[in-house]
Amino acid sequence: MTKSIGILTAGGDSPGLNAAIRAVGKASMNEYDMRVIGFRQGFRGLMQNRTTDLDASALSGILTIGGTILGTSRDKPHRMPVGDQVMDMTDAMLETYNLHHLDALVCLGGGGTIKNAYRLIDKGINVITLPKTIDNDVYGTDVTFGFDTALTIATEAIDRLHSTAHSHHRIIVVELMGHNTGWLALGAGLAGGSDAILIPEIPYDIEVVAESVLSRSRAGKPFSIIAVSEGALSTEAAAARAKMVARIAKAKEADDKKAKKAAQNALTEFDTRQISSTHELTLQLEQLTGLESRVTILGHVQRGGTPSPADRLLATRLGTACARLIHAGVFGVMVAARGEGTEPVPLDEIVGKRKTVPYDHPWIDTARALHVCMGDC
Ligand code: F6P
Repeated sequence: MTKSIGILTAGGDSPGLNAAIRAVGKASMNEYDMRVIGFRQGFRGLMQNRTTDLDASALSGILTIGGTILGTSRDKPHRMPVGDQVMDMTDAMLETYNLHHLDALVCLGGGGTIKNAYRLIDKGINVITLPKTIDNDVYGTDVTFGFDTALTIATEAIDRLHSTAHSHHRIIVVELMGHNTGWLALGAGLAGGSDAILIPEIPYDIEVVAESVLSRSRAGKPFSIIAVSEGALSTEAAAARAKMVARIAKAKEADDKKAKKAAQNALTEFDTRQISSTHELTLQLEQLTGLESRVTILGHVQRGGTPSPADRLLATRLGTACARLIHAGVFGVMVAARGEGTEPVPLDEIVGKRKTVPYDHPWIDTARALHVCMGDC
C-alpha cells in the first residue's frame, strides 16, 4: 500500500532546509513510491491543515535556494497562540495527520523542534526529525545542516573586518549567532584568525580581554578582532545567570509553580538585557585600552542565502536516510550525522539536551595554542 508522509520545517530557518525537503521527498517518491505533502509555517500549518503537494515539480530547482519553501515558525504545539489565548493544539494536529492518512511526520528543526515533535509521539504520530540549525547545538549528531554555510559567511565577514581594523588601528568586536553555544563564534573566529574569541561556555573577564589587546599593541599590532557569541557572558553575568537557573530548578523540584514562573520570567528578562551586551563590551574595551573600537553584529545574514556544498551534501544524505527509515518503519528518532554515514537516534535520548562546546574540544586547544584570548586567561 502506498505510504503517505508529511514534512514541516520549524524554528529559525537555516541554509540546507530545501535540500533536505527535496531529498526526503525525492527518495520517498522514487525509491518507495510514497505520497508527500508539506505543511506551511511549521506546526501552525499542521494545526490549521495548510498543506502543499510536494510532487516532482514542487521539488524541482530548490536544492540551491536558501530559507524554506514551506515557511517556518517558532510555534509550539502545546502552547499555540490562538486569538488572544495560548492553547494546547496537539489534538488538532493529530486530526490533520489522520485526515491525510499520514504514515509519518518529518520535522526538520533544532532542539526546540525535537521537543515539540516528541510531544506528538504521545498522540500516536509517527515522528522522525532531521537536525538543522546554524548553531550546531543539536545533541546526538556530529553536525547540523546550516552550520557550514553560516561558518563560511561569518568567516568571510571576519576576513573583511580584518583589513579595516588594521587600517584604522581599531578594535572591531564582531558578534556572531549561536544562541547559548559557541560553535559558530569559535569556528569562524579560528578560521578568520580572530585575536580573542568569547563564547558562552567560557565566561570572560573583561580585564583579561583588554590586556590581550594591549599586549598585541605593545608587540606592534595596534588592532584586534574580537569574535563574540551572542550568548557570551562575563564572569559576573554568568554567575548571576547560574543563580537564576538554580532558582528555576529548585522551584521545579518543590513543584512550586508560582516560584517557577517568577524565576523563569527573571531569567527571560536577564537574557533580553544581555542582547545589548556586545555594545557594552565594546565600550568597556575602548575605555580599558584607549583604542578606538567598533562593533559589527552579523545577525541574520549568517543564515540567509544559498547553502554551501557541504550543507547540501549533509542535508541530502540525511534526507535520503530519512526516507529509508520511514520505509523500514523506524519512528521516534532523529536521523543523526555520524562520520560519513547516518544513524537513527531515539528522541527520548536527546530531547531537552543541548550540545555545547566541551572545554577540552580540539578547537579550544587549537585557539589556546595560538595564544588566542578565550577571555579566561
Ligand atoms: O537558532 C538559530 C538562531 O539564528 C540563533 O543563532 C539565534 O539566537 C536565533 O535563531 C534568532 O532567532 P530569530 O530569528 O527568531 O530572531
